[in-house]
Amino acid sequence: MARVAIVTGGTRGIGKAICLALKEQGCRVVANYGGNDAKARAFTDETGIPAYKWDVGDYDATIAGCAQIEQDVGPIDIVVNNAGITRDGVLDKMSWEDWNEVMRINLGGCFNMAKASFPGMRERGWGRIVNIGSINGQAGQYGQVNYAAAKSGIHGFTKALAQEGAKYGVTVNAIAPGYVDTDMVAAVPQPVLEKIIAKIPVGRLGHAEEIARGVAFLTSEDGGFVTGSTMSINGGQHMY
Ligand code: CAA
Repeated sequence: MARVAIVTGGTRGIGKAICLALKEQGCRVVANYGGNDAKARAFTDETGIPAYKWDVGDYDATIAGCAQIEQDVGPIDIVVNNAGITRDGVLDKMSWEDWNEVMRINLGGCFNMAKASFPGMRERGWGRIVNIGSINGQAGQYGQVNYAAAKSGIHGFTKALAQEGAKYGVTVNAIAPGYVDTDMVAAVPQPVLEKIIAKIPVGRLGHAEEIARGVAFLTSEDGGFVTGSTMSINGGQHMY
């Protein structure tokens, strides 16, 4: 039976590439998205993958959204927590709202999705959770105390939940992407981005598909002995 996989923030960028990789791997894939209806419609038209809209930072909406997916598609076997936002700015200019929105969505979203899916995985004795962290959660980044804290939190969350899931066949891992050629990275001011690329030993931005291959492995049957790990996919920018 095909595994049911949900990818949050799955209709564009890295999330879209993950959806396609998991579909190719034989999963029944569902995407979640937060805001951009036009992109979500185009995604479903192009891939045939259904897209469900809710804010993963909203606990009740996440519980309801996952329950709806389980009713429509079946029990959720694989969760990829990919949804994330940036609200960059130096601390002086960062508002409490900028801090809180990033924590609520990027880190709170992982908690909410786990609450919705982990108990069922544990009962059925099989599950895969992959949380998309970031190089900036490992190394920090000027102008990102909110994002770096949330992504760093994801790495701790991963190791803690991995310990809870291990004896029930539920693996929990993180991927820490470096700078990948997505809309999020395109929003970084060009002179800043040029300086960042100059520090990537491989000499270029990553591609979303290169992150998706890592997710495909971690969520496969072959990944069953890998848990609590962080896979860094960053062109050598931070060796950790
Ligand atoms: N280290 C040290 N100093 C730095 C610096 C750095 N990395 N970046 C900027 N500065 C300095 C500048 O030289 C400048 O100094 P002076 O005032 O003495 O000249 C000062 O900080 C202010 O810089 P800016 O003019 O750039 O300040 P700003 O307020 O206009 O913008 C910023 C600040 C929003 C943080 C901007 O620099 C920026 O967008 N930086 C990129 C942040 C980034 O990499 N975000 C990643 C987004 S992608 C992502 O997050 C995905 C992922 O997981 C990898």
